[in-house]
Amino acid sequence: MLILGFETSCDETACAVVKNGRLILSNVIATSLKEHRKFGGIIPEIASRRQLELINAVTQSSLEKANVTLNDINAIAVTKSPGLIGSLLVGISYARALSFATQKPLIEIDHIKAHLYANFLYSEHFPKCQVQHRKPGTFGNVPKPPKLPAIGLIVSGGHTSLYLMKSPIDYQLLGQTRDDAAGEAFDKVSRILGLGYPGGPAIDRLAKTQTDSPLRFSCAQMEGTHDFSFSGIKTAVLHHHQRNPNATPTDLAQIAYSFQDSVVSILVKKSIAACLERKIKTLLLGGGVAANSALRQKLTAEGQKYGIKIFLPPMSLCLDNAAMIAGCGYHWLKSQKSTKS
Ligand code: KG4
Ligand code: ZN
Repeated sequence: MLILGFETSCDETACAVVKNGRLILSNVIATSLKEHRKFGGIIPEIASRRQLELINAVTQSSLEKANVTLNDINAIAVTKSPGLIGSLLVGISYARALSFATQKPLIEIDHIKAHLYANFLYSEHFPKCQVQHRKPGTFGNVPKPPKLPAIGLIVSGGHTSLYLMKSPIDYQLLGQTRDDAAGEAFDKVSRILGLGYPGGPAIDRLAKTQTDSPLRFSCAQMEGTHDFSFSGIKTAVLHHHQRNPNATPTDLAQIAYSFQDSVVSILVKKSIAACLERKIKTLLLGGGVAANSALRQKLTAEGQKYGIKIFLPPMSLCLDNAAMIAGCGYHWLKSQKSTKS
């Protein structure tokens, strides 16, 4: 079964073809990120205007790369929410029109949960990337899918949530951030330090130049809950930076290291705790912050310590993409819970 997926929740215009919910035949992503950099964040108007211009070409390219035509497609999946309203509207309107014109079913997908589904996907075009954190399964080169139930940590620019994933369509929210998302904290701290947008990769790179830091910025622990809070640590960095305005490049690197270390520690601690509490042996990571090198390392190390199998999406599937939307769409279609336009 072939699903054509669309993702336009933020600055990306993405279209993918996924076979049987797992095999990526194409995954085309165009982004307007560069145009937003000078503003220090995404400008919704610019994002949606670009998406309007790009979506036709991105769709054509995705079908061509998958070597299929619209006739071969069984259903269409699109990001329903959350996201920028103008951007979502471009994808949803396009997908609904396509569904109407071709008389193919339309499935509308929750973007956040789809991020976790990235761990179920694989591709014959970049197998190394797909199997680097897992052993190939018993079916030829097809990597085994993660065993469910699993704990899922979603860390993106807009969300930080812990889920109990019972099936690809059944999720129970265990906890979430009470204020800023982890990615948002990375972006804001980067802005405070003058490192530019997006902040996550900039802080990640700078923190890598240090092996320790004399500074300590701590995150609120939110004891007794699966919740997170990142606004306090962001403010602590701001106050520190205001008190020390003549920071050298080394000072900035130490701030980046300490901030990142603290955010990563709480994310890992709460995720492992949720696994232990529920006696679950599989942990899935998803969302843009899943690209963070320190988070990937620490989660892998702690997983080994506690006998928990950690699934990290390949870098190409950490950020927003349509393959995760098409993959989820397959399961919704199978479960007959699709939403026809
Ligand atoms: O999932 P995503 O592409 O968009 C949302 O749905 O929000 O995530 C974007 C977020 C941004 O906040 C960005 O700074 C963060 O992911 N990010 C990172 C890294 N790469 C991207 N955060 C930490 N370390 C990274 N290497
Ligand atoms: Zn996202």
